[in-house]
Amino acid sequence: MTKPIQGFSKLTKEEKIDWIVSNYTHDAESAKIILKRYWNDDEALQNLHDEFIENTITNYYLPLGIAPNFLINGKLYAIPMAIEESSVVAAAGKAAKFWLDRGGFKTTILGTEKIGQVHFMFSGDADKLKSFINSVETKLRSEASDITKNMEKRGGGISKIELRDKTADLDNYYQLHCTFETLDAMGANFINSCLERFAKTFKQEALHFSEFDETEKNIEIVMSILSNYVPNCLVRAEVSCPIDELADNDTDANEFAKKMIQAIEIAKAEPHRAVTHNKGIMNGIDAVILATGNDFRAVEAGAHAYAAKDGKYTSLTDASIENGIFKFWIEIPLAVGTVGGLTSLHPLVKLALEILQKPSAQELMQIVAVAGLAQNFAAVRSLVTTGIQEGHMKMHLLNILNQLGANETEKATLTEHFKKNSATHSAVVEAFENLRKGI
Ligand code: MEV
Repeated sequence: MTKPIQGFSKLTKEEKIDWIVSNYTHDAESAKIILKRYWNDDEALQNLHDEFIENTITNYYLPLGIAPNFLINGKLYAIPMAIEESSVVAAAGKAAKFWLDRGGFKTTILGTEKIGQVHFMFSGDADKLKSFINSVETKLRSEASDITKNMEKRGGGISKIELRDKTADLDNYYQLHCTFETLDAMGANFINSCLERFAKTFKQEALHFSEFDETEKNIEIVMSILSNYVPNCLVRAEVSCPIDELADNDTDANEFAKKMIQAIEIAKAEPHRAVTHNKGIMNGIDAVILATGNDFRAVEAGAHAYAAKDGKYTSLTDASIENGIFKFWIEIPLAVGTVGGLTSLHPLVKLALEILQKPSAQELMQIVAVAGLAQNFAAVRSLVTTGIQEGHMKMHLLNILNQLGANETEKATLTEHFKKNSATHSAVVEAFENLRKGI
């Protein structure tokens, strides 16, 4: 049985791999080859990647694809997407092309406010606490000025520090609920540093606040951390066109518009469908978030919280038909950055941002929201017309053929074959076996 290991992080990369091989994979040669084959020959580049996290043993590759032809507010973008799911980039490209011919995407920033909180316990007179906060706010700001001065020079910083009484939810629980403007930075480190400084100043100043009695002076700080729920860091993206213009190949425009509205209404009404509907949106969003070195866990958590903001989990997109115009839109909170973090470190993140013409954080919010809306349009359009499997399995075909060990000629023959035939898993296996047998 494998025993716990002490000091794993202190081992060299080779020693770590040896330990993994001898304790878990037990296939020394192949495991080493696989692990080493994914290292980069450029030592400096490999070191850079090794140092992103602790205990790196190799690199984990995902494809970086491009979805071109996105017309956003009159400007044409090619959107980089990092994702493993076969059909996502193709679907984004298709939706982009569809809307390119119908006026493109229009986007608006509805807010850029970030949030952080100092959570603390106070058992005493709430009015005295209020008067303490009023008296200490200037000091909280001035004591954090070494952290905020650069951000302030650029026009950002601490917007508001507010006391929130949460004692109805939890005995003695209060917050300093703080809002920030972090400009082109995602701002997590900036916000957390400010909050930790607030907490320190706050606790110290309480000891000298004359209105407090001895117990009240002893404010208990529990934690200081940003919130990934940022409902006022919000972007809207929209497409619209006269219903007649929705006609495409053999789709009837009116029938299609009606089905799209029904599909959205179902996602708005029913959480099981809403989760899958929103998952389709996140296919587009996460892929751009990942390609641009942003934090997809933060974006995911915030997006789903927003989807449940009215007490029931619902669709992040909406659609309407008014006066013969079909409109389809998304509103989604997105805390992203185009400076700091991985943006100037990871070569592919730099490349992705260059492809996007070095966007500001606000521009990136708009591009990401569009990727989500486009992805949702493509998915729902397939669902209400051909069904999802036709396109999905066509894109997944190469994965199945690779699993079966098909060579390049076999892949080309079978790709051609499945342009006209339905590509279920069993049909692909059968066609492959027949091809090998010469049938
Ligand atoms: C698959 O990754 C995403 C979809 O399930 C989204 C949807 O159902 O709307 C196709």
